[in-house]
Amino acid sequence: MNMIDLINKKQHGKSLTRDEIRYFISEYVAGSIPDYQAAAFLMAIWFTGMTSQETGELTLAMAESGDQIDLSEIPGIKVDKHSTGGVGDKTTMIVAPMVAVCGVPVAKMSGRGLGHTGGTIDKLEAIPGLSTELEIDQFISQVREINLALAGQTANLAPADKKLYALRDVTSTVDQVALIASSIMSKKLASGADKIVLDVKTGSGAFMKTVDEAIALAQIMVNIGEHAGRETVALVTDMDRPLGMMIGNSLEVEESLQVLRGEGPADLAVLCRQLAANMLYLAGRGSLEQCGQLAEEAVNSGRALETFALMVAAQGGDAAYIRGEKTFDRASQSYTVVAASSGFVHFIETDDIGRAAGLLGAGRSRKEDAIDPLAGIILHKTLGDRVTEGEPLVTLYYNQDEQLREAVERTEGAFVIADEKAKVRPMVLARVTAEGVEMTCSDL
Ligand code: URA
Repeated sequence: MNMIDLINKKQHGKSLTRDEIRYFISEYVAGSIPDYQAAAFLMAIWFTGMTSQETGELTLAMAESGDQIDLSEIPGIKVDKHSTGGVGDKTTMIVAPMVAVCGVPVAKMSGRGLGHTGGTIDKLEAIPGLSTELEIDQFISQVREINLALAGQTANLAPADKKLYALRDVTSTVDQVALIASSIMSKKLASGADKIVLDVKTGSGAFMKTVDEAIALAQIMVNIGEHAGRETVALVTDMDRPLGMMIGNSLEVEESLQVLRGEGPADLAVLCRQLAANMLYLAGRGSLEQCGQLAEEAVNSGRALETFALMVAAQGGDAAYIRGEKTFDRASQSYTVVAASSGFVHFIETDDIGRAAGLLGAGRSRKEDAIDPLAGIILHKTLGDRVTEGEPLVTLYYNQDEQLREAVERTEGAFVIADEKAKVRPMVLARVTAEGVEMTCSDL
């Protein structure tokens, strides 16, 4: 077998065998296939696509390229969750304790933010003292004790994906559904959960701009899960507006705590309830409706908040921030953007809001960049809201002002105010399972 033949085969749209895919992954990780051949191969895949069989094989080969976490010492069905990435997406910090208090163990490994989207690990690290670098034994024993651990991915989790993702990033081959699906699912399969709930975002702040594209990606990932024997359900959810009203690491922890206290914005609370209900459903806790009620009770009883506090303490963090005995600091400076005209917020270029938060210090454009946990944005108005000229739209929080001007310009340009009211979609637009696609018309 040699790489030139494989590139040529894919260039002409032919299907690769399991052995050919495994050869590519193992030799690329070992360093014997150079980046220029791997890049040509990725570009051929970008143009000609992959069959579902090839996508499944690629995912398994990447999942098996490094550590595979064994969660069998944790009793019960372990259900994982993953979001394809959005702006203000803090659902893991809310959903994980909701599910854990209903008796379903959550042993979750998460990633850091890159580009305009945030990552759960950066958000959790905004809690003073908290560590996400858990040894695997500690991770498992914490879940056995309190049913919940949120940790960073081990360094050797799906190394093939790590190497290929970095190459895709610089060869304009990220946005290919089979490559996105195999990248996400390889990490989920290697993380060891029995079942998986995916949150596939669609809209101006998401990778998949249309509902149809998001459903297509969801279907591929659900099929990969089935192929690997891990039941998978995907919700296709709205990202035409930031999720909730707060963006930035520490601010997103604050807003998550609001939701765990039964307060907080309705869009975020609704999505968290639905994600938690689907995780509980996969764990066999009843019908979706019953699972929705269980999830709601987990919040209303205060138990989800307390479980989150226990997790924070177990990971070295100061739980007084979670229990409301201490309040989070805010960045030293702020700047408020006001509405230039009256009307309704008709459109938000959501990824520009994410990029603006990044420019203030909340995100990184290169892996090695440091982030400022206090930098971020609070929205005063969101999609569909009425505004009058001069009224505050958003407040930007920052400690460093080098990129403030650009952040302000991006934020101002992101809001379109018009006379007619925008049509605000329900949060959950579709539910994709191995059986098919159900379109959702309302959040109720
Ligand atoms: N997230 C991933 O982990 N991989 C992709 O390819 C895209 C988003």
